[in-house]
Amino acid sequence: MTQTAYRAQLLTFNGDPAQSSNAAVFNEDGLLIVEDGHVVASGAYAALSKQLAAGTQVSEMRDKLIVPGFIDTHIHYPQTDMIASPAPGLLPWLDTYTFPTERRFEDPAYARDTASFFVDELLACGTTTALVYCTVHKGSADALFAESEARNVRMVAGKVLMDRNCPEFLRDTAQSGYDDSAELIGRWHNRGRQMYALTPRFAPTSTEAQLEACGVLAREHPDVFIQSHVAENRDEVKWVAELFPGHRSYLDIYDHYGLLRRRAVYGHCIYLDGEDRRRMAETGAVASHCPTSNLFLGSGLFDFDAAGEAGMPVALATDVGGGTSFSMLQTMNEAHKVARLNGHHLSATRMFWLATAGAAEALDLGDKVGTLAVGSEADFVVLDPAGTPLLARRNARCESLEELLFAFALLGDDRAVFETYSAGRLAHRRGAPRVAV
Ligand code: GUN
Ligand code: ZN
Repeated sequence: MTQTAYRAQLLTFNGDPAQSSNAAVFNEDGLLIVEDGHVVASGAYAALSKQLAAGTQVSEMRDKLIVPGFIDTHIHYPQTDMIASPAPGLLPWLDTYTFPTERRFEDPAYARDTASFFVDELLACGTTTALVYCTVHKGSADALFAESEARNVRMVAGKVLMDRNCPEFLRDTAQSGYDDSAELIGRWHNRGRQMYALTPRFAPTSTEAQLEACGVLAREHPDVFIQSHVAENRDEVKWVAELFPGHRSYLDIYDHYGLLRRRAVYGHCIYLDGEDRRRMAETGAVASHCPTSNLFLGSGLFDFDAAGEAGMPVALATDVGGGTSFSMLQTMNEAHKVARLNGHHLSATRMFWLATAGAAEALDLGDKVGTLAVGSEADFVVLDPAGTPLLARRNARCESLEELLFAFALLGDDRAVFETYSAGRLAHRRGAPRVAV
């Protein structure tokens, strides 16, 4: 197989920067060597250049920074066309914009068109893996998986399960939801780089029979993902307590149906208590923090200190279309500010970890993506410290790696992404026309 190689500044991780001062591994003059879609070497150019196979083309990008591809742990592809729709909070936003928009996915052609734009937009922002909600329609999941398979992107996604408290036209049943999910798992889970996530939208839109059926599927398929929303908004939490009397907490409903475990990912996790966080830590379930969404919908402030004290795994996410940006850099920007409002200092180095290696580890994908380690799938982003005139001026004065990463996080977006590679293949170049595959 032909090798490709990239000489650039390299950043990868071997642990959580909050736990170890050596967790970030930075090479100012680095070399990344890729073969057959995987990393075969990464480190200092001086040490690795001898390893280059004869005739290997080396892309010279010493003014750029290569980081592992970003991982967005919670995003709704059907909400692409309704991003930035105004509403006074979560529940009216769902009724006014979300449900009517999701109805359009009855139409496979609309689903295909949206999926294609969606994957383009992820790659333009440097996101190479995402945990994606589709709609209740089986075909919406087929459309997304077909698109991401064609681009050879590692994607996790699932058809939404929803059998009450939503318009009739968006309902499945406990049985049809079970059957459709089982069929999609059979068709897509572990096919190439595609993986399935059981996706009960949130407790209010599923009957007990549907949550029960989802628990059965989870037991039958121990390595599929599970994704849902929990404790996002005060009105939602109150509604859930009325719908499910007798549970200790909102999270306890999911626990009761066997939906807390490794590879279970819960969006928001704002109104949890200490017992809930301990239970997340104990089971290995992951809290997906969605700061742009939480600020936009006025949902609340995620508590990083409480998460850390409980040992609850955390990752970052956009939650588009509740979230207001596809960019994980913009997500870091607002994560930093949300943490600040709770008296917590979230460093840029840790935010980059949370969006790459930390997410991969939390999702049990650390052997595949999230780092530049030898053997990893070669998903990486080439960031441009001069991506905008303002970034260029700021970065000319950066005195540390933390300052550079902080400037990317606070000032960066898709303009800071020069190139994105998926499984070693160039998947996006800034300014190049997007080409449908
Ligand atoms: N809770 C249930 N559905 C949704 C959704 O689509 N977006 C957000 N942010 N919260 C939800
Ligand atoms: Zn969401």
